[in-house]
Amino acid sequence: MKMVIEVKEVEKSYGSVPVLRHCSFCIEEGEIYGLLGVNGAGKTTLMKMILGLQQIDGGSILVLGKEAGAGAEYLSNIGSVIENPVFYEHLNAEEILSMHLIYMQKEVNILDALHLVGLDTERKKPISQYSLGMKQRLGLARAVIHQPKLLILDEPLNGLDPIGIAQMRDLMRKLAKQGMAILLSSHIIGEILKTADRIGILSDGSIKQEFKVAEKVSEWGEHFDDHVVEFMRGETV
Ligand SMILES: Nc1ncnc2c1ncn2[C@@H]1O[C@H](COP(=O)(O)OP(=O)(O)OP(=O)(O)O)[C@@H](O)[C@H]1O
Ligand SMILES: [Mg+2]
Repeated sequence: MKMVIEVKEVEKSYGSVPVLRHCSFCIEEGEIYGLLGVNGAGKTTLMKMILGLQQIDGGSILVLGKEAGAGAEYLSNIGSVIENPVFYEHLNAEEILSMHLIYMQKEVNILDALHLVGLDTERKKPISQYSLGMKQRLGLARAVIHQPKLLILDEPLNGLDPIGIAQMRDLMRKLAKQGMAILLSSHIIGEILKTADRIGILSDGSIKQEFKVAEKVSEWGEHFDDHVVEFMRGETV
């Protein structure tokens, strides 16, 4: 299997406050990796560093063998939704996606992408009239329309209704089957459990536990959440 992302011994501090220390993990082609951690654990910081939006203090991040942040070619392999997606509010979904495709220098059918996230009938509405869940869906359409090899989703279920959550899960599985590597963060253990192939628990600045979901579901059974919460707290079990 081909490695899509390799995070090695990454260090990050904001001023004198350390956030990440010796943080390492890898994600293979076609794999969904769930990043779990308490508020402030450093999930968004890590994702921003992969996108070249935050400087790395030490260690290295490689996406398809290229150092993080190395220009347009590097970014064309990645799609992302970090926290809540931001758009020009006066534009509509079609316009947003066509601008993005110009930027990415790709020609892809916009209607297909909007259909994928269930926004085809809302495509002419200005974004200012979108609900939170509709914005999340459009953010996802923008993240995948240029067919990246790596998809980074920071709390993608935020604001989605139960149908939206189920659709998002199906969509992630479908994209992973096509070979996309997906890095997903969430606080909702149950949802990560249903979606991810592997889980990494970010605590005290590094991935303290990493496991295949299927293995631990059969080992821990109904106590799965209890174990995960203990790991998230940074306790060793
Ligand atoms: N731009 C910044 N400047 C200074 N400190 C920051 C900055 N961004 C994040 N931090 C701090 O870094 C730590 C990690 O924040 P981060 O947003 O990465 O956590 P998170 O795991 O995404 O949390 P949440 O689950 O709440 O989204 C926090 O202590 C936060 O206060
Ligand atoms: Mg965050």
